[in-house]
Amino acid sequence: MDSLSPEVFETRRRQMMDQIGDEGVAVFVGPPPRNRSNDTDYPYRPSSDVVYLSGFREPRAVLVLAPGHDEGQFVMFVPKRDEKYERWEGRRAGPEGAVEKFGADAAFALEDLDEELPKWFEGRKRLYYTLGSDPDFDQKMLRWTQTKRHSRGKVAKMPGAVVDVRDLLFKARLTKSKEELELMRRACEISSEAHILAMKHCRPGIYEYELQGLIEYHFRRSGGEFPAYSSIVGAGDNATILHYTDNNSKIGDQDVVLIDAGVEYQFYAGDITRSFPASGKFTPAQRDIYQAVLEVEKATIELVSTDATYEELQESSRRMITEALVELGLLEGSVDELMEEKAYGDYYPHSIGHPLGVDVHDVGLFKVSDDEAHDLVANMVLTIEPGIYVPAADENAPEEMRGIGVRIEDDILVTESGYENLTASCPKEVDEIEALVGSGDPKALEL
Ligand code: GLY
Ligand code: MN
Ligand code: MN
Repeated sequence: MDSLSPEVFETRRRQMMDQIGDEGVAVFVGPPPRNRSNDTDYPYRPSSDVVYLSGFREPRAVLVLAPGHDEGQFVMFVPKRDEKYERWEGRRAGPEGAVEKFGADAAFALEDLDEELPKWFEGRKRLYYTLGSDPDFDQKMLRWTQTKRHSRGKVAKMPGAVVDVRDLLFKARLTKSKEELELMRRACEISSEAHILAMKHCRPGIYEYELQGLIEYHFRRSGGEFPAYSSIVGAGDNATILHYTDNNSKIGDQDVVLIDAGVEYQFYAGDITRSFPASGKFTPAQRDIYQAVLEVEKATIELVSTDATYEELQESSRRMITEALVELGLLEGSVDELMEEKAYGDYYPHSIGHPLGVDVHDVGLFKVSDDEAHDLVANMVLTIEPGIYVPAADENAPEEMRGIGVRIEDDILVTESGYENLTASCPKEVDEIEALVGSGDPKALEL
């Protein structure tokens, strides 16, 4: 399995430290495990920031970057080693491992935070830290920065300003390095194969969760640890629910099945949506909607370049969808007026896409505000994912279009010369998917 080398993490930390400067200190905190029920926890997913800067996966880790500090500029606080715990629950690196395997200059057990962490604040003017994600830790941070500390016979100066560290980290995470792109390509490839597998083995009469199982089986057998988000497998009217994750219904022979699923591979997400007829043949109404979405998707992908802004992609996809909705008979009136009224929102309520990376909805400058125009920059990855959703209960829609949801989503790398579609291997043309659906040998899945 691929994974990032220690040098990659070191480079990332050095770049962060260049921005923090020797008057600053930054603290990143990993969340605790979350309880699922009684004495069972959800599988642990480390904080994206902790994992981005260190590759460390254990719960509650605290990372400190204090550029130029003479007792260590990269410090880790981690769960201590404990023979009995490790026999039951799994191995821990401990402070020793944090130094040896994760490159910390100094490392301590979590129990030592109170005693040790404030030492790294002394003499620093700015504390880079994200308030609000862990209120208990926020309280401790305030106490640690406000307690008077004596150092060399004087009262030590502690940071007087807290700066949101996301501003620095987000810029770093927005563009992807060569090593990151290798992992993202692999995440996209595994995700694409999983969709192909599901299309091949779809037949009317099976359950949505059977396709979910196939998809997630492929993720896991390919070395992906988790789905990057809860897999959406919605047939018929379920496909019109944007974040449908029940996945419990039987698939009917007249249903369009919408699958939105992607693997998290080495902490990089794939995010693909395909929509296909369960029977292997679109009805005319299904095909019209599908073709309309496909054309908008392809035309929007063509606009991706460093000369474009996210807002331009958003607006042009909304206009194209509005034109399609008029053509399909789902909206009436002039396209300009419908755009003014945002009438597309009834059938296309979400945005054209989002940055992709360590998180499926990754950090990105253009999420700061909907009103700001944000340039696309080379080496960022974003999704393009238009859709049209006609709920079964929509009495204004032509009857044959009710209960159809179509979204088509690809993962696009912005390049110096335009774009590259990282999920191009996943079929989406009408004849390709009609040939693929149901073509798998059911025996291949038997015990
Ligand atoms: N699966 C979440 C999204 O497509 O944004
Ligand atoms: Mn997406
Ligand atoms: Mn998606």
